[in-house]
Amino acid sequence: MRRAAKPQQGSRIIFGPRIALDALIRPDKEHRLAKTLSWPHLIALGVGAIVGTGIYTLIGVGAERAGPAVILSFVIAGLVCACAALAYAELATMIPAAGSAYTFSYAALGEGVAWVVGWSLILEYSLACSTVAVGWSGHAMGWLGAVGVHLPHALLVGPSGGGVVNLPAVAVALAVMGMLIAGTKESATLNIVLVVIKLVALAVFVIVSLPAFQSANLHPFMPYGFAGTEQGGMKRGVMAAAAIVFFAFYGFDAVATSAEEAKNPGRDLTIGIVGSMLVCTGIYMLVAVAAIGALPYGILGGSSEPLALVLKTLQHPLAAHLIELAAIVALPSVILVFMYGQSRIFFVMARDGLLPRGLAKVSPRTGAPTRITILTGIAIAIIAGLFRLDEIAELANAGTLLAFIAVGACLMVLRKRSPEMPRLFRCPAPYVVGTLAILGCLYLLASLPTMTIVRFLIWNAIGLAIYFAYSRDSSEVRRAG
Ligand code: ALA
Repeated sequence: MRRAAKPQQGSRIIFGPRIALDALIRPDKEHRLAKTLSWPHLIALGVGAIVGTGIYTLIGVGAERAGPAVILSFVIAGLVCACAALAYAELATMIPAAGSAYTFSYAALGEGVAWVVGWSLILEYSLACSTVAVGWSGHAMGWLGAVGVHLPHALLVGPSGGGVVNLPAVAVALAVMGMLIAGTKESATLNIVLVVIKLVALAVFVIVSLPAFQSANLHPFMPYGFAGTEQGGMKRGVMAAAAIVFFAFYGFDAVATSAEEAKNPGRDLTIGIVGSMLVCTGIYMLVAVAAIGALPYGILGGSSEPLALVLKTLQHPLAAHLIELAAIVALPSVILVFMYGQSRIFFVMARDGLLPRGLAKVSPRTGAPTRITILTGIAIAIIAGLFRLDEIAELANAGTLLAFIAVGACLMVLRKRSPEMPRLFRCPAPYVVGTLAILGCLYLLASLPTMTIVRFLIWNAIGLAIYFAYSRDSSEVRRAG
């Protein structure tokens, strides 16, 4: 049972009640997750979630939208995410309870905001899984095609692409769901192996393609300008590309969703969140410079597997095969981390009474919330089977950006309201970092295609309707308060 924080005049009416911070640190026994993860697991969870379809596939979409300046788009998205990562690290070590941005918002900003954030996190986690499942399907089919195995088109793409269902995407989503049900620790350990494969493939890509760097490929550097504007039927410019390649960076926040399961949250989460974010940003810079320097951006932009295309064009078919194979073997690790994060978000929202409580039961054998993992996995598989990659990725980004905005706000609000609370990691210059995270995310959000923003608003309107019709009345915190 959650305890409510002392009501505050005004804010309680606007934002709803808050969870008392000390209640977050000691959930009751029946609803407590097992502490099974230490920092190697968490850093692997972070890198496992971060390196995926963003760098393997969306780098091409980014090049199409920004030209060679997609390198700059990566820098901008990386800087915004670095601010968010610092805020996450402080909050996750201060509040080592499952639920990440949702839980932080519940404690700092009140139930109404927490609900909107949790509802947005559903977009982030579920749609990121679906996006990567679709990306995986593309790589898998490309590789199978090269060895002479061809599936009918109707079973390779959803209705928007002229097919019936993307069967490989459905299959990989359900397979990952099965792994999660088998137990958190086993899945996280396997994840470490997959992360290594993924990073080795990217290292090979950089080593092979950097020597082919031609500075002529960087001109004109910014053909579509800086701000995102509609050009040629799509939103283009450095910021429009940054709003897409932003997808490549997030995932470190998934580490924060497992805070309650960390053996030593102070040390493990700091290393897990900040460390994995820094490692990945460095790798992306290298990959982007190598890819853009090796091929004219126009060619890169048209490809569904741009990194493999670079290697094929440079006459390195074996290395191209390695990239494809690594994507096939290792991209499921991204789905794994996000599906894990999603099931925990649902779990905590159900534990708080905002979703039906029956969903919050954990399996006595694995300590994992089985029922909710199954529901999440099936929904992710259906979306992956039916919808287009870019549509899903853009909406996932919108949900993530909102969550990051909330985290920036939580960092500053809690510094002001609860300065005495112990913080195992202290974010440097918190008001500057928090403000930059909020402004950066707002700019990225505004740079998304208009249709994505409309869909995001519709999603949140549905969420608010559910909140006022059901969740508000069944909230544990309201009952306790
Ligand atoms: N950052 C993750 C990826 O690029 C979501 O696949």
